[in-house]
Amino acid sequence: MKVTLITGASGGIGEALVNRLAERKQDLLLIARNAEKLEEQCIQLSKRFGINAQFIAADLSKPDTAEQIFEETQMRNLEIDMLINNAGIGSGGEFSALSLRSELDLLQLNISSLVALTHLFLPQMQNRKSGTIVNIASMASFMPIPYMATYAASKAFVSSFTQAITQECIPYNVHVLLFCPGLTKTNFNAAAGIDNEKGAGLSSDYKNAPAQTPEQVADEAVKALDQRKQFAVSGRMNRLGANVLALIPNSFITRNFAKLYRKRLKM
Ligand SMILES: NC(=O)c1ccc[n+]([C@@H]2O[C@H](COP(=O)([O-])OP(=O)(O)OC[C@H]3O[C@@H](n4cnc5c(N)ncnc54)[C@H](OP(=O)(O)O)[C@@H]3O)[C@@H](O)[C@H]2O)c1
Repeated sequence: MKVTLITGASGGIGEALVNRLAERKQDLLLIARNAEKLEEQCIQLSKRFGINAQFIAADLSKPDTAEQIFEETQMRNLEIDMLINNAGIGSGGEFSALSLRSELDLLQLNISSLVALTHLFLPQMQNRKSGTIVNIASMASFMPIPYMATYAASKAFVSSFTQAITQECIPYNVHVLLFCPGLTKTNFNAAAGIDNEKGAGLSSDYKNAPAQTPEQVADEAVKALDQRKQFAVSGRMNRLGANVLALIPNSFITRNFAKLYRKRLKM
């Protein structure tokens, strides 16, 4: 059976994408850690949309998880015709003060598991001469961000890696989309531990900053897929921001981000 595999499917942008794809009658394989939530989602999706929705509860911040997921899909006879690498976590604060374990887990989830899932499922797509891979990066991929150093660097990796394999995949008719959301109203900041006073230093009026809803982001991602785009930024203001950022040297951006953050936190 052909399915779309989506990581981080239990909340935020991933859950919104799941709902959009289910409306289009795509069969789905949902991945996240919260088994209870995933089970409930699958029951509801099957009832509402008449699709086959399955899940695997798995922690992608662990090194062997991607391989375990691959093996499970083979056992279930699932053909992954679309892979959406959406699961990701952030972190904020002074790099040296952050927990090394959490930073390394972030790299495993945002980078290594994304690379592993792509490496495991891509050969089958190449053999079939069809398939789609969507990698979710971020506006943060466009610049180094002091006090959010590891997260921004992880998304820069996703961007560079995805743009490179996009070209490698063209002879195999495998479509690759690099999709970059900006600030979105999800659980992301709370999960990253940056919904606190230190997080506020990363953006003064963060709570009032213009943000998209996960549904708006999912709509734009689906539109980019329909248009077979290789790269898309979600939101008009973010697209404008991305164009402006491209003109500004990183040294200027980082110096000013750092100054602002230190000023707000009176460091
Ligand atoms: N929100 C934003 O402002 C924003 C902006 C730009 C880019 N993005 C990117 O968009 C993507 C989705 O973010 P979001 O805002 O939707 O975040 P979110 O609301 O925190 O949702 C994250 C999803 O990933 C899952 N997840 C977290 N850790 C996991 C792990 N170790 N293993 C497996 N699944 C895990 C979560 O489910 P469980 O907790 O059940 O595992 C949840 O389903 C991320 O890659 C993020 O970097 C977000």
